Amino acid sequence: MRRHIKKAIFPAAGLGTRFLPATKASPKEMMPIVDKPLIQYAVEEAISCGIEEFVIITGKHKRAIEDHFDSAYELEEKLRTTGKKKLLEEINKLSHINFAYIRQRVALGLGHAILCAQPFVQEEPFAVLLSDDVIDPDYFLLQEMIKVYDELKCPVIALEEVPRAEVSRYGVIDGVQDGDVYRIKSLVEKPKPEDSPSNLAIIGRYILTPDIFDILGKQKPGAGGEIQLTDALKDLLNRRVIYGYLAKGKRYDAGDKLGYLKATVDLALKNRELSVDFKNYLLEKIKTLT
Ligand code: UTP
Repeated sequence: MRRHIKKAIFPAAGLGTRFLPATKASPKEMMPIVDKPLIQYAVEEAISCGIEEFVIITGKHKRAIEDHFDSAYELEEKLRTTGKKKLLEEINKLSHINFAYIRQRVALGLGHAILCAQPFVQEEPFAVLLSDDVIDPDYFLLQEMIKVYDELKCPVIALEEVPRAEVSRYGVIDGVQDGDVYRIKSLVEKPKPEDSPSNLAIIGRYILTPDIFDILGKQKPGAGGEIQLTDALKDLLNRRVIYGYLAKGKRYDAGDKLGYLKATVDLALKNRELSVDFKNYLLEKIKTLT
């Protein structure tokens, strides 16, 4: 049996209502942070963890994702003939990766999107990356989670401490801390702050095992009328141990306008070409705000 996690699912079929009108006809996952679309950050993160097989769950108005990871002959030829070698290398950086695409016909929820990937995953553990949760590219959260999986051989879900007032935007766990990980006792999707078992929110990185598919196949719609992964994980808890792993680096909710702006500012400040000029601009700007 192969030891490490080799397959990753990138659910990208959601409707992106928090970002309308931008997402009316274009995929949220193609929105750029500086010069790279959200989904490319997630794919590069998976590559850095040794993932070898990639499946993107797409839906209506999501064609641009497939085009982005495909060859672009006319553009490549133009860059070649005009000597723009660096740009050519940049757009071909991921050309060695083979992507599989599975279409989720109706956006029935994250749990349902993951169920769509069952024929691809079959009997192996796998990673799930939600590309609208951007992880600081200098922090290797998924790699740390894979290590935990390799040690404990149980599903591992990423956690972040959030202000209590914000728990209703997330799945939240109740758990017992054991070193770096939490042994999960229960999970609840989008609780009211006063009913929430903790402020440990589930964020968009998971290592899952194929027994989740059985449960997802029978899952009834939950919060928001969607088939929720959190509900399926709650059922899975009756069968096996699930661990939560507290992220130690920065995460941005780029599916939310404010989170997207924060990610843009922070990653622009880290960008070698832009950081100096952008920082100077921000310093000038701040003076006009105070
Ligand atoms: P979100 O909860 O961010 O939902 O989904 P959303 O529809 O994309 O955006 P909002 O909340 O309406 O603004 C988390 C991830 O799950 C995927 C999304 O594409 C996103 O990557 N997803 C969600 C699916 O693939 N299918 C679904 O039915 C729902």
